[in-house]
Amino acid sequence: MSKQPSNPAEPRNPATQVVTAGRRPEWTGGVVNPPVWRASTILYDTVAELRDRAGADTHHKLFYGRRGTPTQWSLADALTELEPGAEATFLYPSGVAALAAALLSVLSPGDELLLVDSAYDPTRSLATGLLARFGITTRFYDPLIGAGIAALIGPATRAIFLESPGSLSFEVQDVPAIVAAARARGCVTIMDNTWATPLLFPAIANGIDLSVLACTKYVVGHSDAMLGSVTAAPGRFAALRDTSFQLGQTVGADDAWLGSRGLRTMAVRLAQHGTSALRIARWLRAQPGVAQVLHPALPGSPGHEHFLRDFAGASGLFAFVLDGGDDAARAALIDTLQLFGIGYSWGGFESLALPIDPDRHRSIAKRGYAGPMVRLQIGLEAADDLIADLDRGLAAFRDVLSG
Ligand SMILES: Cc1ncc(COP(=O)(O)O)c(C=O)c1O
Repeated sequence: MSKQPSNPAEPRNPATQVVTAGRRPEWTGGVVNPPVWRASTILYDTVAELRDRAGADTHHKLFYGRRGTPTQWSLADALTELEPGAEATFLYPSGVAALAAALLSVLSPGDELLLVDSAYDPTRSLATGLLARFGITTRFYDPLIGAGIAALIGPATRAIFLESPGSLSFEVQDVPAIVAAARARGCVTIMDNTWATPLLFPAIANGIDLSVLACTKYVVGHSDAMLGSVTAAPGRFAALRDTSFQLGQTVGADDAWLGSRGLRTMAVRLAQHGTSALRIARWLRAQPGVAQVLHPALPGSPGHEHFLRDFAGASGLFAFVLDGGDDAARAALIDTLQLFGIGYSWGGFESLALPIDPDRHRSIAKRGYAGPMVRLQIGLEAADDLIADLDRGLAAFRDVLSG
């Protein structure tokens, strides 16, 4: 069999791991990236073999298409390897599906969930919709609560959900303090780690029990597939796997392959997204018409001290607050942009601008921002070109204000 990078004897740099992880020779043959194994039916030689397989552990064994093929196993293994200390990873057809499975694998009727108020809106809807219907109550907490979370943990609290930085408002949470409080009271921690990925924040090594990625963003990286994952700390995978099997969760081989393909360049892409985004955030901060820039790496951004302590770097998504103006003035800014697309999602190679209003999606942590807000996904275009584009957009915004 042809030579492939071997499983590491000692931990490798994450930038090396994204290149080597999951490329087992028995799954790839001579092909560099694990090829697409599409399957529903798997054929057995005999009835005895079919029966044997049904009763056995099917992990990394062909059984039936829903349990995956080497294409899915390879990506799942690679994501596990990127989270030092993790047990295993399950893949999902979207980030939201991954979030749902993680929560359902832990919570039962009568349990309480502590949910960060800055969570992605569909996570909030899942909690107040499906979970509520099944008798699970949710209490929202301020993303900046830190060790104060201990006071919220009651006898029914089973899980604490974190997302850091928060969706739209970018507060960086004090993860170690929340993990310590959760462990002291026997609560499970689940974190949406999509913004940082394990390359910038290894969630499992930081004590999180279930680390969720919307792989649709930086893992896929090219805005052409939907994918999610949950990576589990030791002892947490069996419940996750069983729940996910019961829900019928599976990912098509083509999408898993797109995830594997994207993963190989994730470290260099993230570095470029991060460098350009920080440069543009600093530039924006100095522009007339901009009241505030919410970027975790900038001093004054909420939870900046936690970012400096815990993160290896920043990715390419942040927001800014306009200095007054209304929705029409903000629309003039965004509509003027030529390089920034207008659309949902992020993490692809292309830049995006989105009108946002975080306070509309908050129960307790409303911030009362000075004006309308815009979220930017900084892509891989030249930062100078993006700055020139934003300069034009801000001029259009100021024209509406003065006009
Ligand atoms: C922070 C965060 N988590 C999860 C998701 C959901 O991912 P998906 O769109 O793959 O369902 C998103 C999507 O925008 C997101 O921004």
